[in-house]
Amino acid sequence: MGGSHFITVEGIEGAGKTTAIDTIRDWVQAQGGDPLLTREPGGTALGEELRDVLLGHREGGMSAEAEVLLMFAARAEHLDRVIRPALAAGRWVVCDRFTDASIAYQGMGRGLGIERVRSLGEWVHPDLAPDLTLWLDLPVTLGLERAAGRSRPDRFESEQARFFEAVRSGYAAIAEQEPARVRRIDSSGTPARVRDGINAALEARFGG
Ligand SMILES: Nc1ncnc2c1ncn2[C@@H]1O[C@H](COP(=O)(O)OP(=O)(O)OP(=O)(O)O)[C@@H](O)[C@H]1O
Ligand SMILES: [Mg+2]
Repeated sequence: MGGSHFITVEGIEGAGKTTAIDTIRDWVQAQGGDPLLTREPGGTALGEELRDVLLGHREGGMSAEAEVLLMFAARAEHLDRVIRPALAAGRWVVCDRFTDASIAYQGMGRGLGIERVRSLGEWVHPDLAPDLTLWLDLPVTLGLERAAGRSRPDRFESEQARFFEAVRSGYAAIAEQEPARVRRIDSSGTPARVRDGINAALEARFGG
């Protein structure tokens, strides 16, 4: 199993990202790997503080520009302290959201534009991209239904369906532009079907 293994998981709220991470962990472990599981925003002490700032409700909200820059500040820290060292040590890294989330949420959801956000990714990690991105895709209403059981909705979860439609279209645009990296997984089906789809994508990219 030479080469690096950086897998990211994307999708709107309730798409099944956290559930998918379990499936990926099981698959990697079955290959004899010891995956590092992490998430964004977060994954470091500073990153988790920034996560609280980003997800928490605040008087007056936050500008889209501040939001995307804080996301990338957390990401720079995460790359420096966690992701790059683990990849350099030959580990599999599985990350719940990465730069595609910024492109979809801030680029499309907040309206900053895909190219503007992508250029921040090129600045922060010009030499690194995920080897495989699993985009868990389902209708917005279904994702929001699945996510509805949560305690107090965070700042993103409080957005309306229209926002998530824009986010979803952002993911669709990325998947269309980068078909070799991004695999769309239909996550509207049963847990077993979704798991099969994820395993098939992993097998196709990294298997035998
Ligand atoms: N295929 C599925 N069918 C039905 N329910 C599912 C399926 N996959 C996950 N769920 C349930 O839907 C909810 C959301 O799933 P999960 O937490 O994995 O999504 P997520 O993308 O990580 O959400 P968030 O964006 O809020 O972190 C959970 O309660 C989970 O158990
Ligand atoms: Mg989750």
